[in-house]
Amino acid sequence: MKPLIVANWKCNPTNLKEAKLLFDSVKKRVKSIRNVEVVICPPFVYLSVLISQNLSSAISFGGQSCFWEEKGAFTGEVSPLMLKNLGVQYVIIGHSERRKYQRETDEMINKKIKAAITERLKPILCIDKLSQIEKDLKGVPLKEFKNLFIAYEPLFAVGSGRPCPQEKAERMRILIQKKLKRRVKIIYGGSVNSQNAQIYIEKAGFQGLLPGGASLKVKEFIKIIRSVSQS
Ligand code: PGA
Repeated sequence: MKPLIVANWKCNPTNLKEAKLLFDSVKKRVKSIRNVEVVICPPFVYLSVLISQNLSSAISFGGQSCFWEEKGAFTGEVSPLMLKNLGVQYVIIGHSERRKYQRETDEMINKKIKAAITERLKPILCIDKLSQIEKDLKGVPLKEFKNLFIAYEPLFAVGSGRPCPQEKAERMRILIQKKLKRRVKIIYGGSVNSQNAQIYIEKAGFQGLLPGGASLKVKEFIKIIRSVSQS
């Protein structure tokens, strides 16, 4: 399987011009890189413009979250169906910043995962503790696991510049795999950069990466992609 590199732009940049520029610079450079799948998760407001700028490119798109209902009186929410209808394929669910600032609970995350699956989006479930897996995936049919990604994102490593040591990350990857009793795709996120990207894929055995800060710097992001495309 090609490594999956998911750029989580978070709440950046602050205007469309910069978003287009960042996307365009990445798109141009990614063209020549093989054996890697690149997903960009910009803020919702930029999605449709960037998707229209992406004709015939190899980049896929993801939402940074979604609601659990498909439509209705839910002010401020974006539904999985809306994302699907825009041409989005992936959606990050349960990111630690949403658990913290939006007070997302495991119950809410579970509903979001199920709603995303109903719309055939590929959920990228972010977890920090093993115990979250059971609650977040409660009632998800096993046959849906093939379209699911688990992102191990240790809290101490997210946005801190302190990446998780390789052995600890690898141990957690194995525990997640054991807990789910089947092969699932597990990716790593938390202070990923061009120096450590390859280690998580080649040595710790992850199937992809979820860089945040580094995905906003074109050169650094491209270095990350190149380093794993060669591994
Ligand atoms: P970071 O963010 O790479 O800036 O640590 C990762 C994430 O929050 O997904």
